[in-house]
Amino acid sequence: MTPNCCFYMFLLIGTMVICDSLEDHVSGAGTRCPVGYFPCGNITKCLPQQLHCNGEDNCGNRADEDNCEDNNGWSLQFDKHYTKDKYNKLKSLFAFQTKTPECLAGDVPAECTCQGLEVFCDAAKLRAVPSVSSNITIMSLQKNLLRKLSADVFKKYQDLKNLYLQNNKIRAVSERAFKGLYNLTKLYLSNNKITNLEPFVFADLHRLEWLIIENNRINRIYPLTFYGLKSLILLEMMNNSLARLPDKPLCQYMPRLKWLDLEGNHIHHVKNATFISCSTLTVLVMRRNKISSLNENSFSSLQMLDELDLASNKIESLPPYIFKELKELSQLNLSYNPIKKIQIDQFDFLIKLKSLSLEGIEMANIQRRMFRPLRNLSHIYFKKFQYCGYAPHVRSCKPNTDGISSLENLLASIIQRVFVWVVSAITCFGNIFVICMRPYIRSENKLHAISIVSLCCADCLMGIYLFVIGAFDLKYRGEYNKHAQLWMDSIHCQLVGSLAILSTEVCLKPRKCRTISILVLIWIIGFAVAFIPLSNKEFFRNYYGTNGVCFPLHSEQSESSGSQIYSVVIFLGVNLAAFIIIVFSYGSMFYSVHQTAIMATEIRNHIKKEMILAKRFFFIVFTDALCWIPIFILKLLSLLQVEIPGTITSWVVIFILPINSALNPLLYTLTTRPFKEMIHQVWYNYRQRRSKRGRGSQKPYGPSFIWVEMWPMHEITPKVTKPGLCTDSSDASVTTQSTRLNSYT
Ligand SMILES: *[C@@H]1O[C@H](CO)[C@@H](O)[C@H](O)[C@H]1NC(C)=O
Ligand SMILES: *[C@@H]1O[C@H](CO)[C@@H](O)[C@H](O)[C@H]1NC(C)=O
Ligand SMILES: *[C@@H]1O[C@H](CO)[C@@H](O)[C@H](O)[C@H]1NC(C)=O
Ligand SMILES: *[C@@H]1O[C@H](CO)[C@@H](O)[C@H](O)[C@H]1NC(C)=O
Ligand SMILES: *[C@@H]1O[C@H](CO)[C@@H](O)[C@H](O)[C@H]1NC(C)=O
Ligand SMILES: *[C@@H]1O[C@H](CO)[C@@H](O)[C@H](O)[C@H]1NC(C)=O
Ligand SMILES: *[C@@H]1O[C@H](CO)[C@@H](O)[C@H](O)[C@H]1NC(C)=O
Repeated sequence: MTPNCCFYMFLLIGTMVICDSLEDHVSGAGTRCPVGYFPCGNITKCLPQQLHCNGEDNCGNRADEDNCEDNNGWSLQFDKHYTKDKYNKLKSLFAFQTKTPECLAGDVPAECTCQGLEVFCDAAKLRAVPSVSSNITIMSLQKNLLRKLSADVFKKYQDLKNLYLQNNKIRAVSERAFKGLYNLTKLYLSNNKITNLEPFVFADLHRLEWLIIENNRINRIYPLTFYGLKSLILLEMMNNSLARLPDKPLCQYMPRLKWLDLEGNHIHHVKNATFISCSTLTVLVMRRNKISSLNENSFSSLQMLDELDLASNKIESLPPYIFKELKELSQLNLSYNPIKKIQIDQFDFLIKLKSLSLEGIEMANIQRRMFRPLRNLSHIYFKKFQYCGYAPHVRSCKPNTDGISSLENLLASIIQRVFVWVVSAITCFGNIFVICMRPYIRSENKLHAISIVSLCCADCLMGIYLFVIGAFDLKYRGEYNKHAQLWMDSIHCQLVGSLAILSTEVCLKPRKCRTISILVLIWIIGFAVAFIPLSNKEFFRNYYGTNGVCFPLHSEQSESSGSQIYSVVIFLGVNLAAFIIIVFSYGSMFYSVHQTAIMATEIRNHIKKEMILAKRFFFIVFTDALCWIPIFILKLLSLLQVEIPGTITSWVVIFILPINSALNPLLYTLTTRPFKEMIHQVWYNYRQRRSKRGRGSQKPYGPSFIWVEMWPMHEITPKVTKPGLCTDSSDASVTTQSTRLNSYT
């Protein structure tokens, strides 16, 4: 009945793929290099993106190995202006010091060391600021037990340039603590327990350039806290507890501020007035805050801004013109924000942008148009590798694989690319062969034959699925990133994915008491399970198109909750129940055979027979399990929030799932006794005909002869084979063997 439908489907999809690939080969980009290629500096050569930064000089002028590190923004600026300068200065200072190591500051406490005019009292268990000569320039009190900084403690050290107070237990800082430090340029207060900074606390620090207050507990700052910091360049307040910034302009008293790091606070809002006077700011880091609302004008005064880091916040939408004034921005990080939609022209103003991070952002409306104005963009980071196809001119795009596919190929690994064909061929031909052969096997039971054909059709669907995946892999060879998103959204992917699910759902083995109506029911359920996700785009979103192989196996957090619940119910609920039923029914079948065997007289043979039967049953249940257990495990793991690499998904889809489908023809037909006998008979007839051709014709043996020998029971009681006695083909042969043995004795 169905052998032909299967074959035609196969043919249909094959031609569909081929036609598609023919018509689709006329798309190219008008840019200097084709899509997926990057230019080799100032020469006309174009190379594929994967050769970028691979450690080899592919261009010939090393242009492909330039600019590999993404060190735009903060690190670049910092290197340029600070560390190098300061490092060199320090080196010369150090050279000077090695010549004059002796102390120039008079007497110092025993816990401290002194070099020139620098006093170091680190890890000395000090509970108070020691008293030393007033002409020192550096005082280091790191890792002590200071609890508070009281008024005027440093007042006499008017020449002090650097003051190190990290890793103490400072809780309270007097409003007058830093009075008189007119020459201070660097103040380190990291890793203390400061909760509050009074207004005017830094009022005398006119020359302060660096103020480092990381890892404290500061929960609010007043508009006048930073009063007096006329020279401040770097303000580092990472890992505090700031919930809000003052309504007044933050930089009002810090007109030279260049670096501002507010990472790891609890800031909710950035108002339009906050950064209004920060016109010299070059780096603004607000990563790991709780920012949910941004004002259209929040960053409009930051015309010098080079790096803006808003990663890991709660931003849901970006005002359309928020980046309008950021003409100097070279690095923007918006990663891990729950941004729902990015405007097509959102980045249009960022003409100097070199690095753009959009990790962890689902971009349903992604378009090439978004990134086209960013001519100087060299690094881009996405959530999904297939988005890279929308920024083809960017030299470095990450991630470049999802474990299944790479930028070049639908199936990243060469082994998978080959084996998808091998497994598909074995599965398809094995099953088609069996479907075609079935009518010639005079089966003992019509129902059994139908259920085997049904099983073969189901398995054949798996073969077709792999064939289509292989065909599309071939079609997109070398330029997959151009098509990835379209492919995953395409109806082909949806259909082929539902074929695979249909196949795994109806791959139940022919078994005892399976009636036509049960078979029909199984297929109906299979169709429903496979095609329901296609019915409601809103609820399931892109259920099948989450990866290149269109198999809805690994669930992500961002998947719609509808499709997540659905796949859990299907894979864990329905399949687990079916699996338990299978185990149970084979268990009970074995038990009943065991019981009848005990009653039989032949004790010598029955243990051996039982062993055979047990092995066979185990094998059947095991192959059933092969089909489902990997899915159970993966689903369970993903429910437990374990990250499942895409590589595992693709191996499961290409090897583990089809094993069942490839083995079923062997298990249910090709290795069974009736089939062997039939082949034997055909061969025997052929030999007979050849040898008889010379002697004249004689009526050849019909296969029924062997049949009668094989299944004497049928001859004796043909009416007994009612559905209630129908058994699995594999155990059928064992049972009939024993019947035969019994009838012989
Ligand atoms: C490309 O630039 C390099 C220096 O950056 C220069 O030496 C070379 O002549 C240029 N080549 C062309 C074809 O302009
Ligand atoms: C610093 O002051 C101490 C006394 O407090 C004095 O002995 C020393 O000479 C002074 N050093 C310099 C370089 O002025
Ligand atoms: C420190 O500041 C005072 C007052 O501003 C100034 O007179 C003095 O020269 C400065 N000392 C150094 C070492 O710069
Ligand atoms: C800030 O806090 C985060 C997480 O709490 C931690 O991983 C990071 O090391 C801290 N940063 C610094 C500079 O201590
Ligand atoms: C700041 O935003 C408010 C409303 O959000 C607006 O009324 C005000 O004019 C804005 N101020 C500036 C300077 O843009
Ligand atoms: C952007 O922010 C994310 C999240 O904090 C971080 O993992 C990533 O490295 C950042 N990207 C760049 C280019 O710094
Ligand atoms: C791109 O960068 C180059 C050099 O880094 C610069 O000369 C050019 O002006 C930049 N293009 C734009 C549009 O900013």
